Amino acid sequence: MKIVPGPASTDLGLKISQLLGTKPVLMEYKRFPDGEFYIRFAEEVKGEDVVIVQTTGPPQDSNLLQLLLLTDTAKDLGAKSIIAVVPYVAYGRQEKRYMPGETVSFDTVLKLIRSVDVDYIITVNFHSPDMLESLGKYFTNLSAMPSLANYMLRYKLNGAFSLAPDDGAIEFVKVTSKILKGDYGWLEKKRDRVTGGISVELKALNVKGKDVVIFDDMISSGSTMITAVKILKEQGARRIYAACVHPLLVGDAKEKLMREGILEIIGTDSVPSSVSVVSVAPLVAEALKRWRA
Ligand code: R5P
Repeated sequence: MKIVPGPASTDLGLKISQLLGTKPVLMEYKRFPDGEFYIRFAEEVKGEDVVIVQTTGPPQDSNLLQLLLLTDTAKDLGAKSIIAVVPYVAYGRQEKRYMPGETVSFDTVLKLIRSVDVDYIITVNFHSPDMLESLGKYFTNLSAMPSLANYMLRYKLNGAFSLAPDDGAIEFVKVTSKILKGDYGWLEKKRDRVTGGISVELKALNVKGKDVVIFDDMISSGSTMITAVKILKEQGARRIYAACVHPLLVGDAKEKLMREGILEIIGTDSVPSSVSVVSVAPLVAEALKRWRA
């Protein structure tokens, strides 16, 4: 098995290689003056099971194209099989036609990935896991929620309340609350499909005097977290943390969250960022060992 750390996930790729005790494939990456990308495999991958580690967080389109270039070339160079480790899958939130005439972008992304002969995809906390069921064994969707909760144990949280900022995150807090040995709760969020604005139904949470961790799959603009923080503060929560698997943190989202009173944002390296303190490498390495066995 050979590991190719893609340009968008170099550190993660190196960590996975280290955990598997394999040397990463020597690669050459550069950009032409016009912005086009250049990729060269500087060593042979013929006859190998090749693992391409490449996230498709922002800038999604260029990271996605790099993933396609890497996988297509590895197959062309004679790789026996291609496993794509794509910890964050771009366009995962556009998996349905919500309004007439919209693109079902995730479908198109999947068709593109399949068109370059990927044999297997490993991803982490894919946004719409139900979508993956129809794909059968082609996908493995790992969860980094236990890793995030285990990381939070070091904060010696008082009361350790796990909050899901919408009902899509309820399954996450069921898991994290067991690890943190505290209660959990959730909010009911609605998003306006045209403006993107969100509204949350007010409800009583048992958080007075407690430390709260809000767990979500991703933080993009930060609006979901900010809405949750406001409600938590009104209800007397003590320290508030935000934990997510995919810290997209678009624009000044991080600063906005800190200004709102979040003590710390904890994310994983599924999308490299300044808050990526938890690595998904051990999870992925174990999944690759299972695949290899
Ligand atoms: C939505 O269903 C997701 O789980 C996240 O809650 C959402 O995508 C976060 O986006 P934002 O940070 O822009 O509110």
